[in-house]
Amino acid sequence: MSASPHFEIRPSDHPVPDAEREAVLASPGFGEHFTDHMVTLRWSAEHGWHDGCLEPYGPLSLDPATVVFHYAQEFFEGMKAYRQESGAIVLFRPMENAARFNRTARRLAMPELPEDTFIRMLELLIAQERSWVPSGDGYSLYLRPFMIATQRGLGFTLPSRSYLLCAIASPATYLGGGAPKPLSVWLSEDYTRAAPGGTGEVKAACNYAPAFAAQRHAVSQGCDQVVWLDAAEHVWVEEMGGMNLFFVYAAKDCGRPRIMTPALTGTLLPGVTRDSLLQLAPTLALDAEEGRISVGQWRRQCESGELTEVFACGTAATVVPVGKVRSASGDWLVGDGEAGPVTLRLREALMGIQYGRDPDPFTWIHKVC
Ligand code: COI
Repeated sequence: MSASPHFEIRPSDHPVPDAEREAVLASPGFGEHFTDHMVTLRWSAEHGWHDGCLEPYGPLSLDPATVVFHYAQEFFEGMKAYRQESGAIVLFRPMENAARFNRTARRLAMPELPEDTFIRMLELLIAQERSWVPSGDGYSLYLRPFMIATQRGLGFTLPSRSYLLCAIASPATYLGGGAPKPLSVWLSEDYTRAAPGGTGEVKAACNYAPAFAAQRHAVSQGCDQVVWLDAAEHVWVEEMGGMNLFFVYAAKDCGRPRIMTPALTGTLLPGVTRDSLLQLAPTLALDAEEGRISVGQWRRQCESGELTEVFACGTAATVVPVGKVRSASGDWLVGDGEAGPVTLRLREALMGIQYGRDPDPFTWIHKVC
């Protein structure tokens, strides 16, 4: 058993040709193209973490009776490597992802990974794939570490006794890159994402599969994304599919504008971007708080002009305005339906740190190479 496992290096004999890679980097989209390598690391009850390898990207071969296929014992993280203007390639708050990785592992009865191994695994992959990190605002190398249960058998008594951790990388611009186009969102009043005591606050794959039906419904209603409400009353706004939400209130009585995000009640994901914006806001003369908002308040406060902007945030999406809300009981615009100044200021401040244009007063940047 090794607390700090070794990674064997097996470079690919057939990397993607330079011209092909450059064409991908010019317009990568999101999650469509993958780099030449991946990292794998195994865990067993007998040997702990072992058999670490940086190897050519390729298919995994698994017995059809493997636990992950039947009982969804799987989870993932999402992070980005940024190419800064100085040429440095950096990660943003990777220790936060390492800590959430282990919180998710605990909730799913899966093995925790030493945080330094989590970081080392990603550094190895990024250093190997440095030519795959695109440059430009909104461009990044998206990293997707994930862990699956690999024991063979359909018995449902105890968790799997073996696991595979894998990290893959994909050049990305989420939602098209460039100036963010406001999203239209559908309020899901029938489906529920997460209930107290469930897995809503961790990054379990089983939170995402049931969301597809609601997301498909949102798209059928002409919307980009679904907004989830609380499970008990179907009234309180929780989060979007894969992003947290923020509400922007106009300044009152010579005060400052205020941003509010739904509090972490145990059913929504504690996003790293969400936490970063809560910390950044006061540096931009904005008050910031965690609270709650009902669907009725959202609509009334937009109509009265008290609520001026709404935006979504996440690692993949960064900060994206919400322009229009649709629901079974009616539609409304947020502000004039366009990106608002507070949304754009927060987005610019966050990306300024990530891309190295601005100082990093919180020491969030982790230089890789
Ligand atoms: C991320 O933002 O990294 C996520 O995991 C969201 C995913 C649904 C794209």
